[in-house]
This record gives sequence, structure tokens and C-alpha cells, in this order.
Amino acid sequence: MDKVLSFSKKVLKEIIDKNSIVVDATCGNGNDTLFLAKTSAKKVYSFDIQDIAISRTTNLLKENNLLSKCEVILDSHTNIDNYIVEQINGVIFNLGYLPNADHAITTVGESTIKAVEKSLKLLKIKGRIVIVVYWGHDSGKIEKEMLLEYLSSLNQKEVEVLQYQFINQKNNAPFLIVLEKLK
Ligand SMILES: C[S@@+](CC[C@H](N)C(=O)[O-])C[C@H]1O[C@@H](n2cnc3c(N)ncnc32)[C@H](O)[C@@H]1O
Repeated sequence: MDKVLSFSKKVLKEIIDKNSIVVDATCGNGNDTLFLAKTSAKKVYSFDIQDIAISRTTNLLKENNLLSKCEVILDSHTNIDNYIVEQINGVIFNLGYLPNADHAITTVGESTIKAVEKSLKLLKIKGRIVIVVYWGHDSGKIEKEMLLEYLSSLNQKEVEVLQYQFINQKNNAPFLIVLEKLK
């Protein structure tokens, strides 16, 4: 079976083509941005609130000669609509804190939900949002509960919401949520 991270990439790859606009809502060390940049997508937007994340992501893209198709933005994903006006095909959120940085700086439920709401508005029909939920830390547990409550309330005629989780794994293993816009 696909592990959570490989499944997240698979469901995004399925909807990306050469005309796609895609977003990494939490670029951190840049791994997801690099993955998106390596697809056939036309343009990649990446957000993070930490300088260190912006410089790590920018450096990784430079090393791979992929910076030209990416815009790496030092701002919260809640402001996504200040930067992107066109419709988008896919978004990835990798929640939690940045490894090898300040663990007190982490995604939080309220702003994550706001960013998901705005992403859904920008998303094309059949576009997908994938959210990798890390909930081993205290604020991650609160964020997970808020997010699941919000996502469960979405109209099933407008958006499908999938939870992909290995339920017998120990230690609050991360799980995946995939949204697909229906109308
Ligand atoms: C788990 S890390 C992301 C890992 C990253 N995707 C990678 O491939 O390395 C979570 C990131 O979310 C960022 N973050 C937290 N709140 C944010 C916000 N409101 N907007 C954008 N990024 C945020 C953190 O600074 C951190 O870098």
C-alpha cells in the first residue's frame, strides 16, 4: 500500500498537466515545492511564514534549476488570494512545524481552515487539495480536531473529502486528507 506521503503525491500527479497552476501552502524545507516543480505544472506558488523556510526552498529550487517556474512567497497561506488570481489545479498543505527549526512556529487550525476555504474558492472543478496532518504535538491535536470538524461539514455535492489513514499505526502517525472540488 502507498504510504501517506507517496499517496499524497500520487493524487496530485493525477490532476497536474502542462497548464496547471499548483500551490505549496507550507513550503518548509522545500521538498513538496520541489516535487511540484518537477511535475509538468506550468507554475508553482509556495508560501511560508519563516525566512528560513523561504531560503531553504529557494536554494533547493536553484540547485535543481527549477526556480524560474516557482514563486516563493514569505507570507501566510491565509493571504493566498493576494497573490493568486487565476484558477488553480492543486494545493498541498504539510501541517505542523519545520524540522530543524523553531518547533513553536507551527500551523494552527484557524488559519489552516481559512487557507483551505480560500484555496477551495480558487480551485478548478476536479482540482484537489491534499493535507498531510501531523498531530503528535499538542497544537497539532487541536488543529486536527478543528480541521476534521470543518471538513466534515462541507457539502458533499460540492466537494469530496477523503481521509487516508493507517489506523493501527502507533504514535499519532500522520494521515492524509484529500479534497476534490465537484462544483
Ligand atoms: C511540516 S513543515 C512543512 C514541510 C515542507 N512541506 C517540506 O517539504 O519540507 C510546516 C511549515 O508550515 C509553515 N507555516 C506555519 N504556519 C503557516 C502559515 N500560516 N502560512 C504558511 N506557512 C506556515 C511553518 O513555518 C513550516 O515551515
